[in-house]
Amino acid sequence: MIYYFSGTGNTKFVADCLADSLHDELTDLADFTRAGRPLRSESARPHVFLAPIYAWRFPRVVEELIRNAALSGSRDVYCVATRESQSGRAGDYLRRIVEAKGLTFKGFTSVDMPNEYLLSDPVSPPEETAACLRAILPELRRLAERISGGLELSDHGNVGLPGVMSGIVNAAANRFLMTSGRFAVSDACVGCGACAKRCPMANIVMETGRPKFGKTCTWCFSCVQHCPQSAIDIGKRTVGKPRYVCPDYQRFIKENA
Ligand SMILES: Cc1cc2nc3c(=O)[nH]c(=O)nc-3n(C[C@H](O)[C@H](O)[C@H](O)COP(=O)(O)O)c2cc1C
Ligand code: SF4
Ligand code: SF4
Repeated sequence: MIYYFSGTGNTKFVADCLADSLHDELTDLADFTRAGRPLRSESARPHVFLAPIYAWRFPRVVEELIRNAALSGSRDVYCVATRESQSGRAGDYLRRIVEAKGLTFKGFTSVDMPNEYLLSDPVSPPEETAACLRAILPELRRLAERISGGLELSDHGNVGLPGVMSGIVNAAANRFLMTSGRFAVSDACVGCGACAKRCPMANIVMETGRPKFGKTCTWCFSCVQHCPQSAIDIGKRTVGKPRYVCPDYQRFIKENA
């Protein structure tokens, strides 16, 4: 079983590719985070978890979901992240969580994706995104072969100061940065409610035709990036910047076959 959590579609793209190559089923973890219910899953195949890297680790909400999950059938657990450039010690944290459950951790790896982090550089434009996705397809198929062969995964993202980044910096980011406190909705909003429907944390409610943000944001940027009017900004740094949503895997394969 392939489980994924995705804000702007990069991880869904990788999950769709693995499910396609492995002929395996997909589970969207947002169905569980949104409802606040624990994951229960039985699978004869390995349990493969995919998520983006947020501040050098899997999102806290996904770590929690794995920690509390009831996983039966196969004892093997793989973890795969998508990232912009660095995954720090994400794999070490996941190993601890999986082994504490008495399951077998078959390793962690991470895949470099187009840039969607609109708070720093401009996001990847469409032609750059397409080139990046075309380039990673062989890597994803090799990854699927390793998983189907029961081989261990390893990561190459431990550059810089991984212990510090995945430890204290991650804790500070989760505590002080990753909130919707600075989210602002402009007059371009047409009240369509798409942001509320998409939010994997049920952190948005529509009130008199406008989104209102709560306190459970995990900074996935799904609302900001998918808004058809680009009406949601994070402070001033995102105003007027192009948004990013990863292309759909099946459509991309058809158009790039
Ligand atoms: C809040 C946040 C924190 C991030 N932190 C990191 C990071 O520490 N290292 C990195 O390489 N990429 C980082 N990224 C980039 C994402 O991991 C990357 O773009 C990922 O593919 C997004 O997946 P998604 O489209 O499925 O949401 C971060 C993105 C966000 C939104
Ligand atoms: S998705 Fe955008 S336009 Fe639609 S309600 Fe949300 S902020 Fe408004
Ligand atoms: S409020 Fe927006 S950024 Fe926060 S969790 Fe929901 S969709 Fe993601």
